[in-house]
Amino acid sequence: MNKEILDNLLKDIGENRFNHTLRVVKESKKLAKIHNIDMDKAITSALLHDCAKFEDKNKLLNMAYDFDIMRNNIMKLNNHLIHAPLGAILAEYKYNVLDKDILNAIKYHTTGRRNMSQLEKLTYIADYIEPARKFNGIEKVRQLAYLDLDKSTLLAMDESLIFLINNDRIISKDTFEAREQLIINIYFKEEMNE
Ligand SMILES: [Fe+2]
Ligand SMILES: [Fe+2]
Repeated sequence: MNKEILDNLLKDIGENRFNHTLRVVKESKKLAKIHNIDMDKAITSALLHDCAKFEDKNKLLNMAYDFDIMRNNIMKLNNHLIHAPLGAILAEYKYNVLDKDILNAIKYHTTGRRNMSQLEKLTYIADYIEPARKFNGIEKVRQLAYLDLDKSTLLAMDESLIFLINNDRIISKDTFEAREQLIINIYFKEEMNE
């Protein structure tokens, strides 16, 4: 991994988030191998997925306004969502990532979206199951992650939705669309192909 990128990340996101990032990279490598997904893309997506999760929250908000991310109302109402689309912008312009699939894996790593690519699901799940995570029901998501990315992503999304609902948080429609697509992939593939 490029030392300059690592130095920049550590400076921007702080030690805790940086260590989380390294665990996500490790988990992504494991998943890429199992599911036969491009290893370099998996590593880059994981490395940069939280690159905009600045320790300095004012910096995050100011940049979000500068890059016009706050035009989307949901970003104002759930600040936690900002770092993902902002991260995709930084990945492109600060870290010179050109690959669309990597940029989308970063952009949608918190909400998911309809028709997620294998790389997008991998990044979403690696972030969710890295070893320090202790969410409700995480063991089942971990087991499924090594067997079936669709089923594992669906379960992780459902656990997140339950949390968001129980805490009266604003939910992105992208998550509902992602979920709908995953259910079609898992249960209705044949019907859709008829
Ligand atoms: Fe994140
Ligand atoms: Fe993360």
